[in-house]
Amino acid sequence: MELLFIQSQEHPLLPQAELKAVMECENIEANLEIITEGLVLLSDISKENICDYYKILTKRLGYTHEVHELILKTNVYDFDKDMGSVDWSEYIDESFAVRVKRFHSVIDTVGYERQAGTVILENCDNIKVNLTKPKTLIRIAAFENEFYVAIERIKLNKKHFEDSKPHKRPFFYPGSMSPKLARCMVNLSRVKEGDLLLDPFCGTGGILIEAGLIGCKVLGSDIFWKMKNGTAINLEHYGITDYRTFNLDVRELKMYEKVAAVVTDPPYGISTTTGDVDGGEIIKEFLESIYDNMKDDAYLCMASPHFIDLNPMVDEVGFEIVEQYGIKMHRSLTRIISVIRKK
Ligand SMILES: C[S@@+](CC[C@H](N)C(=O)[O-])C[C@H]1O[C@@H](n2cnc3c(N)ncnc32)[C@H](O)[C@@H]1O
Repeated sequence: MELLFIQSQEHPLLPQAELKAVMECENIEANLEIITEGLVLLSDISKENICDYYKILTKRLGYTHEVHELILKTNVYDFDKDMGSVDWSEYIDESFAVRVKRFHSVIDTVGYERQAGTVILENCDNIKVNLTKPKTLIRIAAFENEFYVAIERIKLNKKHFEDSKPHKRPFFYPGSMSPKLARCMVNLSRVKEGDLLLDPFCGTGGILIEAGLIGCKVLGSDIFWKMKNGTAINLEHYGITDYRTFNLDVRELKMYEKVAAVVTDPPYGISTTTGDVDGGEIIKEFLESIYDNMKDDAYLCMASPHFIDLNPMVDEVGFEIVEQYGIKMHRSLTRIISVIRKK
């Protein structure tokens, strides 16, 4: 079967990268085709595992909005004929609505929604249109002159990402990234439920909240006890109980157990304090100290500013960069998200 993903367009690459990373670590086998920014098609998925896949995707993905089962691929010329050839009674029970979303397309969305509804009603008995609470939602993604006609299977609830914005947490301190980016970074680390994940610059715990919510055991440490305590308060607030927090300088970090993933946003001296050292220096020392605390197949996903060149530091310590994405914050700062592993 084929699944159609409607994703956020707030970054051109991160939503696809997040999906690929989750597929990789959760062993979801499928061919991934990027139709355009915000629209991804997975094909050759076995029906047998589909319920598990839906559960995993719903629990994990930050930058995906909707997941649909693809029914039909058509175009503006064959639309009526192809829509009429589907046995809609297989998919629709009682009531339905059709919603069209455009991607680089100038088609009349309302016109096509009506047209699709009419064809479906003509071909199927005992169903009616319900625009407010349909039992089945038919999602049509229009890309240029092509139509991807699908049935909605998952609408990901984004309320958590609103409710856990840094200023809405019980313990607040400036400098915490958006929960959606934190979730994406956790996913890029290829961590799985039950794995141990560490953030050695935990601050207010933004990254650990997201890792805890997908079922990881989380460890946080920070040079300031106030932050370490604040992280614990925030984790408890979001119902995360499988955690430990430490008050440590990253340069002295020595964990009893090697971790499956490190996800972190180190300080670089602009809006957050680096203790007593310069931004580049603390990142180099962090890489050196974290290496021995990571399992051999563990990933590190970290943020850094564009003006710090990670490449030589990573290489010297014995790591390699596997993926990198830039996020333009403002005119003079691009944040680089790097996915790193041992060579
Ligand atoms: C950018 S903030 C992390 C923000 C965090 N992701 C959050 O959600 O709040 C960086 C954190 O690193 C901590 N820090 C600075 N130097 C450190 C060091 N040498 N060892 C450990 N933590 C340090 C700071 O106290 C600060 O809380």
